[in-house]
Amino acid sequence: MSTNNYIVKEIKKENFSSIYKIHKETFDKTHFLSYLKENLLVKYYEKLIIYNKYCYMIANEKENEINGFLFAGYKTHFALNEFTKENKFSIIFALLSHPKFIVEKIKLVLAKQFNPKLELKADLRLIIIGVSTQFKGAGMALKLLQHFENEIGVDGAKLYGLSVRKGNQRAINFYLKNKFKIETTFMNSVYFYKDIN
Ligand SMILES: CC(C)(COP(=O)(O)OP(=O)(O)OC[C@H]1O[C@@H](n2cnc3c(N)ncnc32)[C@H](O)[C@@H]1OP(=O)(O)O)[C@@H](O)C(=O)NCCC(=O)NCCS
Repeated sequence: MSTNNYIVKEIKKENFSSIYKIHKETFDKTHFLSYLKENLLVKYYEKLIIYNKYCYMIANEKENEINGFLFAGYKTHFALNEFTKENKFSIIFALLSHPKFIVEKIKLVLAKQFNPKLELKADLRLIIIGVSTQFKGAGMALKLLQHFENEIGVDGAKLYGLSVRKGNQRAINFYLKNKFKIETTFMNSVYFYKDIN
């Protein structure tokens, strides 16, 4: 399939609802975020786009249909912290409704206590990429990635990084195919970086 008719554009607030639908359908249930209700997840997207410059979607303009999205920037972690601080009660409620994530969070906190600080090569982080189920394997993710890399290249970035769950083989294959290198592993995650020179 050709992606010629699909264009990459910046995400605006009015796109959040379509992005939420893709998010729900494409992320499996190992991701805590996929359990959050629309009003809450939208607040997270909002924080991401306020603090991070590189937030894109891929859309077929003719049919007015969004098929994938990518959020990245230098303050993805900061955005997550702000979101967590401002919505702590709703997040605690979601955690209590899905206790397996409480165990996971406790393990993570403990592991961080007992392990030397996780120093990563790149401050620029790609925090989420997702493509609607129907359009997986069609080159949408690649087009999003290429657009993002062009933009950060223009801004002078040389490197960016991301992390993915160890069991997410499709995403891991996608990153390996696209010249990412493994930086480290920690708990359930594999950390990748990519040199864009
Ligand atoms: C990760 C993601 C963005 C990649 O987009 P994609 O359109 O699936 O990418 P590709 O079609 O290039 O597939 C990537 C690789 O996955 C593998 N793959 C393909 N079909 C697969 C399947 N059914 N099951 C497992 N792996 C598969 C292949 O190795 C493929 O490489 P190939 O083209 O050499 O065959 C997309 O799969 C997705 O949205 N996943 C859910 C959200 C997610 O996990 N995001 C990443 C974490 S933030």
